[in-house]
Amino acid sequence: MNLRSALLAFGAGLVFMGGAANAANLSIVSGDTGNGLAVLREQLDAFEKATGNKVTIVPMPSSTSDQFGQYKLWLAAGNSDIDVYQTDVIWAPQLSDQLLDLTEATKDVIGQHFPSIVESQTVNGKLVAMPLFTDAPALYYRKDLLEKYGKQPPKTWDELAATAKEVQDKEREAGNKDIWGYVWQGNSYEGLTCNALEWVKSNGGGQIIEADGSISINNPKAAEAIERAKGWVNTISPPGVLAYQEEEARGVWQTGNAVFMRNWPYAYGLGNGADSAVKDKFDVVPLPAGSGEGATSAATLGGWNLAVSKYSKSPDEAVALVKFLASPEMQKFKALKASNLPTVQALYDDADIAKEQSIIPRWKEVFQAAVPRPSAPAKVKYNEVSSNFWTATHDTLSGNGSAADNLEMLEAKLDKLKGANW
Ligand code: GLC
Repeated sequence: MNLRSALLAFGAGLVFMGGAANAANLSIVSGDTGNGLAVLREQLDAFEKATGNKVTIVPMPSSTSDQFGQYKLWLAAGNSDIDVYQTDVIWAPQLSDQLLDLTEATKDVIGQHFPSIVESQTVNGKLVAMPLFTDAPALYYRKDLLEKYGKQPPKTWDELAATAKEVQDKEREAGNKDIWGYVWQGNSYEGLTCNALEWVKSNGGGQIIEADGSISINNPKAAEAIERAKGWVNTISPPGVLAYQEEEARGVWQTGNAVFMRNWPYAYGLGNGADSAVKDKFDVVPLPAGSGEGATSAATLGGWNLAVSKYSKSPDEAVALVKFLASPEMQKFKALKASNLPTVQALYDDADIAKEQSIIPRWKEVFQAAVPRPSAPAKVKYNEVSSNFWTATHDTLSGNGSAADNLEMLEAKLDKLKGANW
């Protein structure tokens, strides 16, 4: 599918909207990972051609935590230089006051999207962001290596650790010196909250804060799950994993130096790119389960949306841009080029997507069962909750206190942060 046919499919509504005489200069801020910004630029070129408006990308580091910190500052200062923000699924309650209500402007198209995702971007009846793509991580595994050693993709974390160790050690003996068993995201940032929530939830240890607002993280199953992950560092995972974000993990994986990787679907298309050492050598399965009562596979729900700043000087054009990028045609384009999971329901039955990015239809059930981070119960305090959680986890992984002690301290901090109510 090329952009011209996508644009034609998008319809004449957009074309020559406004006209070049009073063209707007828009800017969109995004820290998309992988080839996300390059794909966005292609889409913006098409939008510019069709509308006469100009759109500049303000690129950001891909850490969602760094983006959030910067956006909070810009919005608090009433910055009118940014019209459109690409926003993480967890931010809606925290940024809602500074973003336009998109309810009216999107009522003709919002029904195309999964209602649960629309719901996650709705705060007190206000649609603060339009869904762009959804996310749920996968366990990437090397088909060739598992086959070579007669192994199956693991169903539990203990199986994963055992297989990773055996394959890693045997490969090293065979001269594959740089190989590691398992790469994931252990840096001190939101991505670690996602990984650790999966370890805890999959081990029957709850969701940090439950939907009713109660703080549940200080429990033995959660501590056991984090201690288990600590055991991976420097045995099946490189010591540097404690500084890894998504792209560092993908770097090791895509050069052929990992047996397993935890990552989001964007890594699927890139892993099958012409320049990838693992092209056609890998597949994905849901993340492993923990052990004991309540053990289950758990994937953290991620995803990105588009919001219009309240301070934009061209709000109509900015809304048109958001609708354009979130349209079925553009989501299809992005799915094909960046293997992002669409939020438009019909695209899960699209034959081109199924053929070119087979993870997408297979991942519909995984993201629909994915575990949300506690951004709804913690409301405007979510970022502080998360940063306290990832710090307690990072401390434990680095040998700075036991999981049990760190979770006990975390509980006390969260209690204080909560006060009478979230
Ligand atoms: C992915 C997810 C996002 C999450 C981030 C953490 O980008 O889509 O929701 O916060 O990873 O690193």
